[in-house]
Parts: sequence; structure tokens; C-alpha cells
Amino acid sequence: MLRDQDRIFTNLYGFHDWRLAGARKRGDWDNTKALLERGREAIIKEVQDSGLRGRGGAGFPTGLKWSFMPKEVGERPHYLVVNADEGEPGTCKDRDMMRHDPHKLIEGCLLASFAMGAHAAYIYIRGEFVQEALNLEYAIAEAREAGLIGPNACGSGWDFECYVHRGAGAYICGEETALIQSLEGKKGQPRLKPPFPAGVGVWGCPTTVNNVESIAVVPTILRRGGEWFANLGRPKNTGTKVFCISGHVNNPCNVEEEMGIPLKELIEKHAGGVRGGWDNLLAIIPGGSSVPVLDKATADDVLMDFDSLRDAGSGLGTAAVMVMDKSTDIVKVIARLSRFYMHESCGQCTPCREGSGWLWRVMERMARGDATVEEIDMLFDVSKQIEGHTICALGDAAAWPVQGLIRRFRPAMEQKILERNRAAAGAAA
Ligand code: NAI
Ligand code: SF4
Repeated sequence: MLRDQDRIFTNLYGFHDWRLAGARKRGDWDNTKALLERGREAIIKEVQDSGLRGRGGAGFPTGLKWSFMPKEVGERPHYLVVNADEGEPGTCKDRDMMRHDPHKLIEGCLLASFAMGAHAAYIYIRGEFVQEALNLEYAIAEAREAGLIGPNACGSGWDFECYVHRGAGAYICGEETALIQSLEGKKGQPRLKPPFPAGVGVWGCPTTVNNVESIAVVPTILRRGGEWFANLGRPKNTGTKVFCISGHVNNPCNVEEEMGIPLKELIEKHAGGVRGGWDNLLAIIPGGSSVPVLDKATADDVLMDFDSLRDAGSGLGTAAVMVMDKSTDIVKVIARLSRFYMHESCGQCTPCREGSGWLWRVMERMARGDATVEEIDMLFDVSKQIEGHTICALGDAAAWPVQGLIRRFRPAMEQKILERNRAAAGAAA
């Protein structure tokens, strides 16, 4: 279990003042100039040494992503874009960081931008996060007033500005290239990759898009050292992570823990355990709605990190842990998720536009038992035709929950069909 002194988000629950005075007491903005004076290459190397992997869901190594930015700043300016769109169902960690610890994010923006040769950072925040946007704006104004950002930020000689841009509630705008389109004032639809944003990003300029948590941990990594961060967690899955635990637990919460903590321990220590006890557990979605669901047998032993969850047939995703006890109709849950993805599909690619609607319609029938057993295999086949055949990951996200359901809970689907057939036969007799 994570020691208190290794916690990065010490104000996660909002017990302390989130403004500049409170943030300074917690060590934020402490001689940031000295961190900047280490130089761009050294900062990137420290982040690489920490082993930090992106906290937005995909787990791409952050330092490596930064190293893709051109070394020299030519005619095209460089940009940092912070993805604060946090739309993944079950996920609410970035919201708390921005509400209770906005200065960690702003200081991280300065350090990351400097390392990548960017004089400006855009924080693209989900439109519904009204208070968080206000807190960020307030904190940015405080930082500017104190000379921490703006011209000659922290007395470093580096000019840096930070802007908050509010989204308008489309899930797809959390996809990095759709976010870039939206930031440019266009319809938020994903672009094909490559080119990746480091080559062609906002307004055609080199851009790095990072999640809120990935940027907010950077000042602490630089102060305490990449090695300190790398010693937490497990190899290739280092550091601390904020987990969002919801559903049928006694105490739903956001909690910062060490990567690789056993899922059962995470829930029992921090969320007061599963309602009715661990044996009353039916299923867990461990990383936000886009990753496949786990059954209890898998959840019993799995560790909460990128590689362990991938090996278990799911994913860490956004680390949003959704717990379902035995009172849950799991087929209905996944049908509801199918509806969500169908609704949020931007409609650009046929497999996602048509396939997500198709999945939803069949899943609705499955939830009622109004289907045949053979259709379960057909459902799986269709999900495979979507997976990997679309412009962005939303197509995969629509397919994976359905695949997870069929892999782990096929008997529950068959049971519904059987019961419906029995009821129909009874009515006919
Ligand atoms: P991705 O794997 O395509 O990319 C991850 C990052 O690495 C991107 O920034 C991408 O530009 C970069 N990258 C990957 N390969 C690269 C290469 N060869 N060269 C340069 N850069 C490269 O994944 P994506 O689509 O960004 O994220 C998918 C994940 O997002 C899902 O697994 C899901 O868990 C998560 N997600 C999170 C949400 C949230 O609210 N935080 C909402 C929806 C999904
Ligand atoms: Fe749009 Fe879906 Fe294609 Fe993504 S996969 S670009 S959401 S249609």
C-alpha cells in the first residue's frame, strides 16, 4: 500500500486550500526556476527514467511521446495540449485534480511545455466541468500575477501562457485528434494517424496531447527524481495512479495508490469492500467503460496495472473501477454501454457508424432474451469486424465490452434466451 509520503495528490479530497497560498504550502511552485534551469533534454530524460506511462487510458510512455517533438523550434510554434475532456464513463479523477489541485497541473504545463519547446499550453476541459474550469482560470490568473507564468516565467527567461478551452460535451472530443479539430474551431471528428500530433497537431504545428494526470505528476517527478517514481509499482508499470472506484461498493471514492496493487486489496482497503462482501461480486470493469469486463474469478487475483490487466484480457484504461454485485443484470449493463457508443460515434467510418448501432440493437434483444443462441456468435463476429477497422479507438471501445461479455458471461446470455423461450412456450401451451 502506498505510504502517505509518496502521495502526489495530497489535496485529492479538497481538505486544503486549492489556491496559490495553499498550493505553495504543499510544495508546488517551489523553486520551479531551478527545475527549468536543468534544461529541456534533462527534463525529458527524467520523465523517461520515471517510466511514466500516459494516464489517459492508452498507457503510451510519456517521455517517449515528448521526445517525438522536433528538437528545434522552427517557423511552426510548438504546443502542449492537455486533454481534460474526461468523458470515459466511470472516470472522475482529472475532475478532482483540477478542482482541488489546479496549481499542480499549471506548474506541470510550464515544465512540460518548456521541455518540448512550447510557449503555450491549452487545457481542453469538458464543458460540464464548470467549477473546475473556474478554479483553473482563477489559478492561472494567480500564477500569472505572481510571475510564475507569463513573460519570463519564474524568472527563467522562458515566456509561457496557459489557456483554458471549454468543450461542448461530445465524448469523441476526448480523442486527441478530434480534440485538436475542436480546438481549431472545427467539428470534433478524429483524423487519421499518422501523422501523429507531434508532426502535425494544432493548426498544423508540432503538438503533444497529454492527459491531466500525466502532466500534473511531472513537477513531483522532477523534484523527487525519476528513480523515486520508477521504484513505485512494478517494472514497466511504475508510479502512483489515481483510481476511481464506483458501483456496488460501500464507499465509492477516488484514491491514489501504487500501480500494481491487487484489485481486491484496492477495493477492500479504500472503498469499504463490495456490498454484501467479496463473495457477492459478479463482475468488474477495471478501466472505464471501453475495456472488457472481468468475472469474479479473474478479479480475485489480478493486479491493477497496464500489463497485468492486458494479460487478464482487459485493460487499465482510465483506472475507473466499476464494481457490480450479483444483483446486476450484466447483459443489460453491456447493452446500455452499446447504446452509449452508438450515440457517441461521430459517424465518419462505416464499421463504427453502422456497427455500433447494430451491436446496440442486437444487445437490446439479448438483454430481453429475445434472440437465438446462434446470434451470440454472430454478435462476436460483428464486433470483430469493427475492431481495428476504424479511424479511432471508439470503434474498438464499442466492440470490446460486447466481446468481454461473450467471453466471460456467455451462460448469462444463454440463460436469458432460454428463459424467454420457456415463457413463450408456456404462454402458447
Ligand atoms: P493510442 O494508443 O492511439 O495513442 C496513445 C498516444 O500515443 C497518443 O497520444 C498517440 O498520438 C501516441 N502514439 C501512439 N503511437 C504513436 C507513434 N507511433 N508515434 C507517435 N505517437 C504515438 O490511443 P488513444 O486513442 O489516444 O487512446 C485510447 C484510450 O483512451 C482507450 O484505451 C481508453 O481507455 C482511453 N479513453 C479515455 C477517455 C478519458 O476520458 N480519459 C475517454 C475515452 C477513451
Ligand atoms: Fe468516428 Fe467511430 Fe470512426 Fe472514431 S471510429 S472516427 S468515432 S466513426
